[in-house]
Amino acid sequence: MPRIFVTRHIPSPGIELLKAMPNITVDVYEEDRIIPRDELLKRSAGADILVSILTDTINAEVFDAAGPQLKLVTNYAVGFDNIDVAEAKKRGIIVTNAPTPEINESVAEHAIALIFALAHRIVETDQFTRDGKYHGWGPEMLLGTDVAGKTLGIIGGGAIGAGLARRMKDGFGVTILYNDIKQNPKFEAEFDASFRTKEALLQESDIVSLHVPLLPSTTHLIDAKALAMMKPTAFLINTARGPVVDEAALVTALEAGKLGGAGLDVFEGEPNIAADPGVAERLRKLQNVVLTPHTASATLSTRMAMSRQIVKNIEQFLAGEVPENAVK
Ligand code: GLV
Ligand code: GLV
Repeated sequence: MPRIFVTRHIPSPGIELLKAMPNITVDVYEEDRIIPRDELLKRSAGADILVSILTDTINAEVFDAAGPQLKLVTNYAVGFDNIDVAEAKKRGIIVTNAPTPEINESVAEHAIALIFALAHRIVETDQFTRDGKYHGWGPEMLLGTDVAGKTLGIIGGGAIGAGLARRMKDGFGVTILYNDIKQNPKFEAEFDASFRTKEALLQESDIVSLHVPLLPSTTHLIDAKALAMMKPTAFLINTARGPVVDEAALVTALEAGKLGGAGLDVFEGEPNIAADPGVAERLRKLQNVVLTPHTASATLSTRMAMSRQIVKNIEQFLAGEVPENAVK
């Protein structure tokens, strides 16, 4: 009987649906924490299907521990940079992610929340108000910026980038620039968007939002040189993956007043907020930064949709089909 090992409990109806499948054994790591490595290796042994989360490093060591009957790894995430896909392919193991329209909406909304939190200084002024520092309205008190009519540069014109473009263009009359590995006429027509080289996009944008997967080619895509091209008033939004931004360089630029602010949902060296503790300490002190703990997709309805998508991929696999989210 095929065995499924789930490395972390996922929202309803995921586990219920898996358990309701005929002739399947479902084993779930039920602790409310990231599964320790030794436990992951031990519990994967004998699994035919692995349901992983983005904090699990799924590589040759896991495949060896699981055994040759492992044929499907389905990742409860859009990103799958935690999985050695090339090694999986070599072994004939299918890898899927779990993209859904709901997750695209949630991440686009979260990027917007970070943009407005920075523009209207929401976190900083909430603290100011709580601290009892509000002693009367002032014409020059805590001035922010407007978003309407500004220029938004989107790096990565996939489903999430498109969701962001649509909302910002329709909702706030924002001009959309984008950069991607190739030009996308549909994206341009739909959002009145203009393609730019990365350099031109950085120079022209008031807000830069990152929506690329983490790859060798996107690691430190935003480095000191890229940051130096941005307007000193610009905001940088990262809801993609931490290492897409050189955080040490980002903190240095923010401290020097060379950037307007940053909204970060992802970090280098998660769960730390920077790979280097000194950089993390400096980042924590900056007022023009809003930090969220990799929660861009963390809405109940989205996480439930992702659970259903995982089950769908497993059902397709068990029916002998290539799962719809199989990654290439
Ligand atoms: C979250 O970061 C995801 O990739 O789903
Ligand atoms: C992924 O990040 C996407 O843009 O769809």
